[in-house]
Amino acid sequence: MTETLDIQITETQSSKLSEIDFDNLAFGKTFSDHMFVADYKNGEWTDLRITPYQNLSISPANATLHYAQSIFEGLKAHKNDNGDILIFRPEANAKRLIKSAERMCMPPVPEELFMEAIESLVSLDKDWVPNKPGTSLYIRPFQFADDPFIGVRPSETYKFMVLTGPVGGYYSEPVKVKIEKHFTRAVRGGVGAAKTAGNYAASLYPAKQAQSQGYHQLVWTDGQTHEFIEESGTMNIMFVINDTLITPPTSDSILPGITRESALILAKDWGLNVEERPIKIDEVIEAIEKGSLTEAFGIGTAATVSHIAVIGYEGTDYELPTIETRKTSNRLLDALTGIKMGQIEDKYGWIKK
Ligand code: COI
Repeated sequence: MTETLDIQITETQSSKLSEIDFDNLAFGKTFSDHMFVADYKNGEWTDLRITPYQNLSISPANATLHYAQSIFEGLKAHKNDNGDILIFRPEANAKRLIKSAERMCMPPVPEELFMEAIESLVSLDKDWVPNKPGTSLYIRPFQFADDPFIGVRPSETYKFMVLTGPVGGYYSEPVKVKIEKHFTRAVRGGVGAAKTAGNYAASLYPAKQAQSQGYHQLVWTDGQTHEFIEESGTMNIMFVINDTLITPPTSDSILPGITRESALILAKDWGLNVEERPIKIDEVIEAIEKGSLTEAFGIGTAATVSHIAVIGYEGTDYELPTIETRKTSNRLLDALTGIKMGQIEDKYGWIKK
């Protein structure tokens, strides 16, 4: 028998559950009753606890506020028809958090701590897991520097925390995206492969410019030449061209998405042609013009599949085929959703009950 970690639990005296309108869930606005917290000091993770969801008290000199030594994960739990709670691939998130920590010069959160934090928190707040189609419990583990020190160096103290909250869809409609030729999300040798706060901060200004031009999001291109497609918004990106599913390979400027990887496994298993290779903007535009590009979509935990309806490039908006005609992305969305909800057999061992 494996030993379990000692997590102190303080339950809330005033649950907010009855105040939540589970028929109208937005993304990221509602938080469950409890949160998990662990402190890193003197070289070890200590004081593992679950407390009522509450504000933190931190020093104004907190290193994260100044230098963004901060990383996070995102994963989802669903409730199946028997009322069991199913979490999708949490071990993969635990491993990716460790990778991000390494790049950001932070101590790793051991996989066992990550898993127990999530399991204990989700089972305590199990009534918060919604079960209507299109909803889930979003789980947000994160780790940040906690030193009250404004010299630039890796912090000596950290917090690892987990929040959860019931969510609806991330995007409510297929998106209109613009291929970005000037701004860069991530560069070779940079931190694009780490799920770190600054990547998201850096994306806000370019995304806002695109939004003022009527787009929802950007398609990011490589920082050196701006000729190759990298990601879309906060997600990985995939295309179907001539019946082949194509996605850029992960690199130090592309996040190794867990939904991305799951989709590639499924597509290969179904016998589809799958190519992980660099893809040029020119190839995409040419394929749209020839009619051989039949699908384009973002793929990530928050949205699962986010269909791209329109791609803007150098002043032209290219309309893509209607969503109903898109075989691969709709099949991936149905399969991933079905596996996550326990309606389709999980032959890959992705689900943690
Ligand atoms: C995801 O698509 O899973 C993301 O990382 C989005 C998140 C930043 C809300």
